[in-house]
Amino acid sequence: MSKISVIGAGHVGETTAFKIAEKELANEVVLLDVIEDMPIGKGLDMREAGPVGKFDSKIYGTNSYEDTANSDIVVITAGKPRKPGMSRDELVDANFNIVKPVTENVVKHSPNAILIIVSNPLDAMAYTAYKVSGFPKHRVFGMAGILDTTRFRAFIAMEIGVSVENIQALVLGGHGDTMVPIVRYTTVSGIPVSHFIPEDKLDAIIQRTAKGGGEIVKYLKTGSAYYAPAMAVTEMVESIVKDKKKILPCAAYLEGEYGINGIYFGSPVKLGANGLEEIIEIDLNDAEKEAIKKSEAAVRSVIDILDL
Ligand code: NAI
Ligand code: 2OP
Repeated sequence: MSKISVIGAGHVGETTAFKIAEKELANEVVLLDVIEDMPIGKGLDMREAGPVGKFDSKIYGTNSYEDTANSDIVVITAGKPRKPGMSRDELVDANFNIVKPVTENVVKHSPNAILIIVSNPLDAMAYTAYKVSGFPKHRVFGMAGILDTTRFRAFIAMEIGVSVENIQALVLGGHGDTMVPIVRYTTVSGIPVSHFIPEDKLDAIIQRTAKGGGEIVKYLKTGSAYYAPAMAVTEMVESIVKDKKKILPCAAYLEGEYGINGIYFGSPVKLGANGLEEIIEIDLNDAEKEAIKKSEAAVRSVIDILDL
């Protein structure tokens, strides 16, 4: 891959662009924002980090979509973040009015790009980008599940006192408080997590994971999380750029999988050079199916608001 653009040079966008450049995942990394000159300053600062950071990616900022032309991947982070007490869903009107024109501009200049959506409410904004772009579903998907899963994994590792690398976990569903951590598929070096953590503690960890975004907002007060989100996007980008074919939980457009049709919903998918190459449908028990239904209803209620 030679060119990656990140739209929105706020907390998530700037951190993501910097990680992508640092890991040399693209020759050219473009950071775009509507705020005059700000992305140019941030991009230049990052480029100047190259010699000591030991990376040669040509990173720069811009206010012009012409500079994003012919990107292979475009990450959309433009939009308002939550403030304390707000739900992600309350951002729907404001961010629809941002993500819609952003997608139109992106598509005009990069008709063959893969789009990774980050703006909230995530499943509804991924749906917006899918409908507005007219791109096939394997080229439009959203980041959320990796973030939800990395929080779950971090909390489990903190509880047991083992390396975070030992924890494998899966969180399905919409990116909201109805997300569904699947405990049966959560292991510590292959050993079921229930061996290490009693049920009541695990339940508390699940609750903390589901409200993990809000916990950060409460502390930050003026915005939401961005380090873990940026790492999550970078993992998706890396799997695509290096054609690693990692199986990762992402927001995908479902057409019958999990009995769900016509919305974006967090599911395990395979990411490779062609984008979202496969949606993996796992077996769920009755309680998990019930939780998925609730999550589906929550996602649909936001998507239904959209004027698309
Ligand atoms: P931020 O406020 O730091 O940055 C947003 C940036 O978007 C600002 O610099 C703003 O000028 C820019 N922007 C606004 N309208 C634009 C337009 N039309 N074109 C280009 N840029 C535009 O917010 P932050 O923390 O970076 O979050 C960005 C979005 O990502 C929020 O909606 C947030 O809720 C969401 N988010 C989603 C996550 C997920 O798991 N999917 C994780 C973290 C954040
Ligand atoms: C989060 O979960 C903001 O949606 C974002 O932190």
